[in-house]
Amino acid sequence: MSQFLPEFLQAYIPSAIQIFYLIATAFFILGIKRLNSPATARSGNQLASFGMLLGVVVTLFDREIVSFEFIIAGMVIGALIGAFAAKKVQMTAMPEMVAVFNGFGGGASALVAWGEFSRFDPGLFALHELFTIGLSILIGSITFTGSYIAFGKLKGFISGGRIALPGQNLINLFFTIVALFLVGWFTIDPEYQVIFWTLFGLALLIGIFTVLPIGGADMPVVISLLNSYSGIAASMAGFVVGNNLLIISGALVGAAGLILTNLMCQAMNRRLVDVLFAAFGGEGVAVAGLDDEDKTVQKTFADDVAIQCAYAKRVVIVPGYGLAVAQAQHALKEVAGLIESRGVDVKYGIHPVAGRMPGHMNVLLAEADVPYDQLYDMDEINPQFASTDVVLIIGANDVVNPAAQNSPGSPIYGMPILNVHEAKRTIVFKRSMSYGYAGIDNALFYSETNQMFFGDAKKSLQELASAIKDLG
Ligand code: TAP
Repeated sequence: MSQFLPEFLQAYIPSAIQIFYLIATAFFILGIKRLNSPATARSGNQLASFGMLLGVVVTLFDREIVSFEFIIAGMVIGALIGAFAAKKVQMTAMPEMVAVFNGFGGGASALVAWGEFSRFDPGLFALHELFTIGLSILIGSITFTGSYIAFGKLKGFISGGRIALPGQNLINLFFTIVALFLVGWFTIDPEYQVIFWTLFGLALLIGIFTVLPIGGADMPVVISLLNSYSGIAASMAGFVVGNNLLIISGALVGAAGLILTNLMCQAMNRRLVDVLFAAFGGEGVAVAGLDDEDKTVQKTFADDVAIQCAYAKRVVIVPGYGLAVAQAQHALKEVAGLIESRGVDVKYGIHPVAGRMPGHMNVLLAEADVPYDQLYDMDEINPQFASTDVVLIIGANDVVNPAAQNSPGSPIYGMPILNVHEAKRTIVFKRSMSYGYAGIDNALFYSETNQMFFGDAKKSLQELASAIKDLG
């Protein structure tokens, strides 16, 4: 597109492109900063998207680009797919969508490296260029196949259980060492094309072999890690084509993905090595020290819950994955509004890993226009449970399981939880006594201060809303 500019400006184009890349980078960083809070997240997203648009448009002026029609076609198709996905994909299916997008990112980086390698005579590349081409192929291809396996597991096309050959971890280690060796070999001997293709094939296989053995329940962590890989692959592709913006934005995604993976592991009290190399969930661990005859639950119904909430001083709502499954956020907002209108102090307590992806509950509640100032993080709400009359636990299970504090043998022992058991009354909204994500029983359900309101969360909340209205 540079040919459309007046001649005297032509000489300034390369420097101007770098300056605009820097401005685009500033938009990315500001955008990420604003994602820090639900109140500013929307504008953060818009800033980062604008930075991306700026980066793409400026790149069209690069004199290396001889034909920009494909880029514009790519932008249009990409924007259409993005807009369609943003409108159509359900909140509960976000992890799947991120998996697909990571796969696109990793695959694109590998293709860029392949395209660049096939464009010139291999002998013309400098050593560092060949090295980054090799790494881009390796990381991009692992991300590509790994992400689609993760997608298949989340969607249920592929079994969520551990699918592995005997000694799978050792096989994966061996393949990874061979792949790194091939990157080195390719760097010093690029003319020997068979190495390039063996590396490509092996990397695709490593992606499949590393994600297949991981349980479906751990997929959100794996997706966050693959997100980081896709950023690193993009950064490598940036080195391959000599594009500073791609290097920086890839590095930002790589770092953000790693930080997020780490935060998720901490909030679930799991080590990343355990997520990657050991199965977890679905074992059905009973509650320690509780015999079957002790396991009686008190059932409750809408009319009773309505009275308890209406005459409480403070009600705290704890949302969990079941709220997202039931799509009950609007019904919940109505109930909260009705309780509040009776002069009750209403707050929401949000656990960092409630749901199946980071920020799941915040996004869901924001969709129902729940005011941000009613949302309290775990550390802020925990000291308030002791002075709370009623806690409504909507489709949450593990994040309120006291086993995390008092059962050293439990798989979730050590995971920080919401201390709802300190409140005067807890009421759990769920459909049955089935376990949550961690596959373990929950002593809270059998406690004397707890009541179970069985049923689909949306239906139960709608019944509760009518019961509160009937109180007059
Ligand atoms: P869970 O422990 O998974 O419990 C969800 C509960 O919702 C289930 O016990 C289920 O019981 C109930 N439920 C499902 N559909 C429902 C419906 N339609 N109506 C009412 N209830 C319904 O959820 P949680 O407490 O939110 O904990 C999240 C878990 O996911 C944690 O173990 C966490 O470590 C893990 N995890 C989270 C993340 C992130 S970043 N958020 C990432 C990976 C893993 P019924 O079937 O009986 O209804």
